[in-house]
Amino acid sequence: CGIVGITGSDRSVEILLNGLKSLEYRGYDSAGIYVNDQAGHDYLVKRPGRISNLESALTPDVHGLAGIGHTRWATHGEPSEANAHPQYSTDERFYLVHNGVIENYKQLKEEYLSDVDFKSQTDTEVIVQLVDKFVVEYEMDTKAALVKVLRLISDDSAYAFVLIDKQEPDTLFVAKNKSPLLVGLADGYNMVGSDAFSMIKETNQFMEIDDHELVIVKPDNVAIQDFDGDEKNRKPFTVDMDANAADKGAYPFYMLKEIDEQPAVMRRLVSEYLDADGQPMVEEQMLADIADADHIYIIGAGTSYHAGLVGARMFEKFAKTPTTVHVSSEFAYEQPLLSAKPFFIFLSQSGETADSREVLVNVNKNHWPSLTITNVDKSTLSREATYTMLLFAGPEIAVASTKAYTAQIAVEAVLAKALGEYLKSEDAKDFDLKHELATVANGMQAITDSKDKLEEIVSHYLSKPRNAFYIGRGVDWAVSLEAALKLKEISYVQAEGFASGELKHGTIALIEKGTPVIGIITQDRTAGLTRSNLEETQARGASILTIVSRHLAKEDDTVILPDVNPYLTPLLSVVPAQLLAYYTSLGKGLDVDKPRNLAKSVTVQ
Ligand code: G6P
Repeated sequence: CGIVGITGSDRSVEILLNGLKSLEYRGYDSAGIYVNDQAGHDYLVKRPGRISNLESALTPDVHGLAGIGHTRWATHGEPSEANAHPQYSTDERFYLVHNGVIENYKQLKEEYLSDVDFKSQTDTEVIVQLVDKFVVEYEMDTKAALVKVLRLISDDSAYAFVLIDKQEPDTLFVAKNKSPLLVGLADGYNMVGSDAFSMIKETNQFMEIDDHELVIVKPDNVAIQDFDGDEKNRKPFTVDMDANAADKGAYPFYMLKEIDEQPAVMRRLVSEYLDADGQPMVEEQMLADIADADHIYIIGAGTSYHAGLVGARMFEKFAKTPTTVHVSSEFAYEQPLLSAKPFFIFLSQSGETADSREVLVNVNKNHWPSLTITNVDKSTLSREATYTMLLFAGPEIAVASTKAYTAQIAVEAVLAKALGEYLKSEDAKDFDLKHELATVANGMQAITDSKDKLEEIVSHYLSKPRNAFYIGRGVDWAVSLEAALKLKEISYVQAEGFASGELKHGTIALIEKGTPVIGIITQDRTAGLTRSNLEETQARGASILTIVSRHLAKEDDTVILPDVNPYLTPLLSVVPAQLLAYYTSLGKGLDVDKPRNLAKSVTVQ
């Protein structure tokens, strides 16, 4: 979910709405705002569905000097108007927006609120009703009541809260634990938001909030304190971000724009990370720290996890450092036996994924060094890791990640090369990354320039089937996983990425007449084997398609990729898969950028 708050501006409704639109990537199943004009009028408007539904419901009389807003990705309770936020107390004095999950909300409800008639199924309503109870029945002031509630919330819970008390309507009561939240300092008014981008049209000055802090935001003042009431000093920081960078231009969907931007991102990364001689420009101390480690652990979720699978091979090849890749939600609760000197690399487009942050919190507790590779400067994972390398991919808006995946792989290549050079590996010396990435950029361009062909393939093979397979070996398997994820998340085709040799050990039973099986073939050693595995599926009725590097191609291959360094083939082989997913979704008339049930950044575990 995404949350915003504002105090001290008569443009509150507009500011909240703009903030919510830029936070829609965090969830879009319902949205709402509460505004108060501090002259006796207040308004609560909530709607199920997209933010555009909320916008249409905002009549011109809805106005205010302060307010809060929320865009939801349902955790407790179906997406409905009643379950949308802001949630409010029965006496309509307190209004609350929340991003996170209160794990012990049922106990709190039973213990304190058995007399309350609840209007929603949300954990959030429990919190707002509880604040009200402590204020009204125990006669506490609002701040004390909120602190009391925060102390009752179990430690495994995650929250970012913004609360308004109608009797003090120029004040935002703000607190967080695990879920992200920043204060934005504008001229004559102040804001809070789940990320910097949601406030960037108003300000580039931000203030961090730490876990277990209470922040009182007024139009001209921000006071931070811990639960014991001790004041904290906090310096603001500046974020340089182009507020217009997220413009869709002439494209029908962001996803297509972002696929097309990939060659430019590769070129940008060359200029950011490689000098005129092709030598990596990477922080020396970080290389020393990684060189000192005996094992690299890569942590990520979704597409970022898949990018890790590709990167690990490069760290082992060019930097000779054992590397394993882990799904963050698993690693957080079943940590494998670690080596003596671990180094952690977090891959995260958004830098906000709660599952990954859970791991980082533990890494920091143990004082292990870490690097976050992310697209969002000053994001939570970036601020909390020892080092950051940015993806320089520009804002990625479509829920299905494309350019962030290829940028992550390219940055991993830079790091593997830099580390290898630092460790004096011959393989790294011979790896002319500047030239290789330039070749990749041209190759990507050639693929995106021949989109029509991919659109045609979709109409023949992918528009009808309910399921499909991507298969490959080694790094081609890693790409198969990402290719299948693209297809399922935006076109709802049940797609699997499979190690092609493993298919025959069970899963081949699913092949029926016409099931599309797409083979990715870019590696000399395994090309013949994957071709045999494709034939085995064809013999059982599959419609086979191939994505093949030029030097391995045969006449009837479906998509032929320009040749590049064997460690970088994923940067090319994934592009046709992204386009196949895009056209399948488009052909079905789906909302390519905002598929059902998903959010771009998942800030709950
Ligand atoms: C969500 C998105 C995925 C993304 C994953 C990890 O599930 O829908 O596209 O890969 O989160 O996000 P991150 O921002 O950490 O890369």
